Amino acid sequence: MIQTSKQELKSKPELYASIAAQLRSLFEGERDFIANAANISSLVYYSLPDLNWAGFYLYKDGELVLGPFQGKPACVRIPLGKGVCGTAAKLQETVIVSNVHEFPGHIACDSASNAEIVIPLIKEGVFLGVFDVDSPLLSRFDEEDASGLHELIEIFIQTDFPQGPSF
Ligand code: SME
Repeated sequence: MIQTSKQELKSKPELYASIAAQLRSLFEGERDFIANAANISSLVYYSLPDLNWAGFYLYKDGELVLGPFQGKPACVRIPLGKGVCGTAAKLQETVIVSNVHEFPGHIACDSASNAEIVIPLIKEGVFLGVFDVDSPLLSRFDEEDASGLHELIEIFIQTDFPQGPSF
């Protein structure tokens, strides 16, 4: 069993490095896309302080569809260009939002969310979906979170999934 804990005394880069090490160990020998997507969601949710949601929206038939996550039940389908997730998907860039209530078209799934960061999943030029993390704290996410989460997502998507990303 992997031990997860909120480790607020570490610097952000140290915390992300420690999560990356745990993630590599969780993924060792396991190449199932859904299982690994579920485990990275859980590891992030329980390792980073002040989160209320962490998980995937996967690109399917031209829209984003809810994937493995931790947190309250969320909206299932998001069109490209809509909300923070749809914007990150359309731009294929990380989007950091300090105050979601000021983001045009923000989709409120959990009223506790005040800040959000969305990382696109791009493997060998192919867009697979996004990883979305929400916080009740305004301005919770910064460039160190973007860089740390990007590294974690790279570890996840660079796994050699035998059937490709299957969802
Ligand atoms: N707030 C997101 C929708 C997903 S939930 O936060 C889980 C958005 O605006 O895209």
